Amino acid sequence: MDPVTVRPARPEDIPAVAAIYNEGIAGRQATFETRPREPEEVAAWLQEDGTLLVAAEGERVLGWARMTPYSDRCVYAGVGEYAAYVAAAARGRGVGRQLLDALCREAEASGRHKLIGRMFAANAASRALARAAGFREIGLERRHGRLDGEWRDCVPVERLLGEAEG
Ligand SMILES: CC(C)(COP(=O)(O)OP(=O)(O)OC[C@H]1O[C@@H](n2cnc3c(N)ncnc32)[C@H](O)[C@@H]1OP(=O)(O)O)[C@@H](O)C(=O)NCCC(=O)NCCS
Repeated sequence: MDPVTVRPARPEDIPAVAAIYNEGIAGRQATFETRPREPEEVAAWLQEDGTLLVAAEGERVLGWARMTPYSDRCVYAGVGEYAAYVAAAARGRGVGRQLLDALCREAEASGRHKLIGRMFAANAASRALARAAGFREIGLERRHGRLDGEWRDCVPVERLLGEAEG
């Protein structure tokens, strides 16, 4: 079996990235989003500010992690926000951890001093991944939004990087 490697996403990865995102949307544990994304919409991420990494086993994309700007205010230029999605068939094998570790390195190398994230309080896997990758849970955001009409609590997380870490 090929080793799992993490690398920047290429245009040919986009259908798999979209499929993995849509699997996460359908699972109703990852995001408030409910509309499946077309590959064309996901392809636009490659042109936008930020970073998109994929974890691949040979030709097969197993998951992705993305960093986007936290804010359009320049005072927060050092803060990035992450999202990570792994195909259901590849979860629990350390792929999410590999992706998030690589994204933290990438964020630091590009001069970010902090990476933040946010997940549903009920998303045990995402909270465990964040903790394992060195993120701190900041608190509990009660009733942060509704998914299918039901209130969901969220947990924001943060990890300091580079000089800020010291
Ligand atoms: C969250 C997600 C990305 C984690 O990826 P993964 O590849 O399955 O996670 P890993 O195998 O790298 O595990 C990372 C850590 O989380 C733990 N973990 C993984 N799944 C878990 C689960 N279901 N319950 C509790 N802990 C879990 C692992 O034990 C590991 O911790 P450790 O290093 O202390 O042992 C994946 O479950 C996923 O894609 N879920 C659907 C999309 C989603 O919710 N994305 C997050 C949106 S905020």
